[in-house]
Amino acid sequence: MDKIKVLSIFGTRPEAIKMAPVVRAMQQDDRFLPITVVTGQHREMLDQVLKIFKIVPEYDLNVMGKGQTLSTITNKVIIGLDTILENEQPNLVLVHGDTTTTFAAALSAFYHQIAIGHVEAGLRTWNKYSPFPEEMNRQMVDDLTDFYFAPTSQSAENLRKENHASEKITVTGNTAIDALKMTVQDDYQNPELNEIFDKGNKVVLVTMHRRENQGEPMQRVFRAVRKVIDQHEGVEVVFPVHLNPKIQEMAQKELGNDSRIHLIKPLDVIDFHNAIARSYFVMTDSGGVQEEAPALNKPVLVLRDTTERPEGITAGTLKLVGTEPQDVTNAMIELLENQSIYKKMASAKNPYGDGDASLKILDEIAKSIKR
Ligand code: UD1
Ligand code: UDP
Repeated sequence: MDKIKVLSIFGTRPEAIKMAPVVRAMQQDDRFLPITVVTGQHREMLDQVLKIFKIVPEYDLNVMGKGQTLSTITNKVIIGLDTILENEQPNLVLVHGDTTTTFAAALSAFYHQIAIGHVEAGLRTWNKYSPFPEEMNRQMVDDLTDFYFAPTSQSAENLRKENHASEKITVTGNTAIDALKMTVQDDYQNPELNEIFDKGNKVVLVTMHRRENQGEPMQRVFRAVRKVIDQHEGVEVVFPVHLNPKIQEMAQKELGNDSRIHLIKPLDVIDFHNAIARSYFVMTDSGGVQEEAPALNKPVLVLRDTTERPEGITAGTLKLVGTEPQDVTNAMIELLENQSIYKKMASAKNPYGDGDASLKILDEIAKSIKR
């Protein structure tokens, strides 16, 4: 029987981390002929992931440009994929999540009348501008998708509410958990991070990058964090700062020059996952980190007004805090000082599966694609 030719397209750090287990699984499975296309929407942060998972893409569109607009990224990806899709004619294009790469790749596949599989389908806030532009990216991608790989029954339900056909939806768990199984190690060591983690202080791991938080909301949060850290001696912050110059600038301005706040370069995914595992709690507006931290039994303060990951809230491990300074301060102090609240959040059950999402996705593709 002919192999199934699957072209996986991704471009940013989170897509790469969550598609790497799928690509790796296809490489080891005789049923598939996998081809990897990266758009290079991110450069250094994408390359870090490719290196760790030893993925060498067949194609690289290299679209990243400093300060470019969403329209430019969309444009470059669609035009760049034209010849590749025309020449490769895969049985399926796989995209992940909700970035501009995801949307542009799905649109491109549609223009070429190639079937689309959406990994991490069905996440919703139903708020057009939160997160921006991700909420509309995923809705638009799901209008184009042929095979939905929903991480949870709730995301599957969201898709059914939008009248997507039940037989096209498979609940798989989240491939982020598959990735964690490949990265978190009991005997993990990193001399630079050990220096911080081995002091015996409580370490708060922070990330923040969302477009809707840039500017004032981010400034408010950073000021609140600094205030709490300055008032709590045995606490340190580790913040691997996103390479977006706007975020680098704000982080340096509001959180720089503080001996207990460590602003560091983006960590590779092995370092970052192990840093979650060693931290006391996490503060983030990231999507992926909201899935990973609960699986590692770490409470998460979500620095956003909405989340498309309500499973973590229901499980009790995520708390939606927003960006108002008083709310951020109160939530931090509560976790630092109230043991029973801390323990309750830290002991909730991971809602994202057992780390076999990639295999479920592959089996479903093998069953569904006619050759
Ligand atoms: C993108 C995604 C967002 C995702 C995030 C993950 C869109 C619209 N946004 O947002 O959904 O949560 O990635 O991190 O698709 N940069 C570098 N080197 C890198 C990466 C970024 O220098 O390796 C800088 C560049 O100046 C770039 C800027 O960061 O222009 C912003 O990158 P971009 O991909 O446009 O948006 P993100 O905020 O990263
Ligand atoms: N991550 C990483 N290094 C870092 C910070 C985050 O490898 O310094 C990983 C994290 O484990 C998660 C992903 O990057 O898998 C999340 O990416 P990001 O927060 O940039 O995007 P989002 O998930 O919000 O789309």
